[in-house]
Amino acid sequence: MADLPYSEKVMDHFLHPRNVGEIPDASGVGSVGNPVCGDIMKMFIKIENGVIVDAKFKTFGCGAAISTSSMVTEMVKGKTIEEALKISNKAVAEALGGLPAIKMHCSVLAEEALKSALADYYKKIGKDPSGFEPKEDSHEHHGH
Ligand code: FES
Repeated sequence: MADLPYSEKVMDHFLHPRNVGEIPDASGVGSVGNPVCGDIMKMFIKIENGVIVDAKFKTFGCGAAISTSSMVTEMVKGKTIEEALKISNKAVAEALGGLPAIKMHCSVLAEEALKSALADYYKKIGKDPSGFEPKEDSHEHHGH
């Protein structure tokens, strides 16, 4: 594996992803996809008293998508919604020891899945999630 451009942490989370699965009574569920590569990510979060107590994911996608979704579910546990909203795709990539430039868009999917799940929760409790809906323009639309 010496020739792979991935950090040990990326490989670890790819080979041993944390928090794979679903939360049946999730507070919020988010589904996002990247139309360019076709990868899909679904995220489930459980919120109690404004704190994310559990997070799980299902990702049909590349290794970087699996690693970043695994890492983001680890990062959000114990965080408030406000803190979770500040987690950027760059922070997720950094926590993994970095990603190759051409794989950064995979971490965007992880940030979007989290925001989509939080937006779903806000809608359920009657709050306006317009401030943190995933941004359409955060996809990289290079080469079809
Ligand atoms: Fe699609 Fe990584 S190539 S998310």
